[in-house]
Amino acid sequence: MEKKFTIISNWKMYFDVNEELNFSTINYDNLIKLSNPQNRIILCPSFLTLSSIKELFKDTNIFIGAQNCSKHSKGSFTGQILIESLNKLSIKYCLIGHSETRQEFKETDNDITQKFSKLIDFGISPILCIGETLEMYTKNKTLELLTEQLHKIFKVIENSYSKLNHLEILIAYEPVWSIGSGIIPELNHLENIFSWLYKNFSNLKNKVNFTLLYGGSVNADNIKQLKNISHINGFLIGKSSLDFQEFEKIVKYDI
Ligand code: PGA
Repeated sequence: MEKKFTIISNWKMYFDVNEELNFSTINYDNLIKLSNPQNRIILCPSFLTLSSIKELFKDTNIFIGAQNCSKHSKGSFTGQILIESLNKLSIKYCLIGHSETRQEFKETDNDITQKFSKLIDFGISPILCIGETLEMYTKNKTLELLTEQLHKIFKVIENSYSKLNHLEILIAYEPVWSIGSGIIPELNHLENIFSWLYKNFSNLKNKVNFTLLYGGSVNADNIKQLKNISHINGFLIGKSSLDFQEFEKIVKYDI
């Protein structure tokens, strides 16, 4: 069976609002051509253009996701993004636990689990990022850390089966030291991690619809190796997704 891929373009804060809108309009037709049942494309722009870009790609096969959200319900939380609002904008995906937000906002696994649970309540698919630091990687502690990062998430999943009937969960394994560094882990490390993730998500008491992604320095040169790793069914891409020619090469690379 041919492998299907979900390719998420995480724009981070690389573009200003004009650049985000220009990128979307200039590449509008080509992005639509690239996205098909074999290669689903999800764009994650900044909050400032989220609703305009959602509107621009309305009724197309391009999906739009948010880069983060608040764990809180409505209230006095200056500068936060309400999940209910994402739902009102018909946003179907939201990144949580990205290492850059974990670091910048001192987010804990508890905070991220609360976001995960709330997103599910609002019918938004979480794209949960997990991954170890270089120190942990060199000490061979990746699985220990992933177990910790996923522990409470599995509990939420086990208590939410009824809500998860039609909802997909996306898990992005992103080694912190790979993000933006140009370095990807050894391929046998990735084989091990992804078979571990696959086993753990497949073994949940009830079946959940999950997709496993890799993120961290994905580019047109390493995509061949990465697409061939068992159980990798998509990528979370920062820098290389901002250059349309490079992004196109990554998406179109056929294994
Ligand atoms: P990168 O970022 O592709 O620029 O390494 C990936 C990510 O942070 O999601």
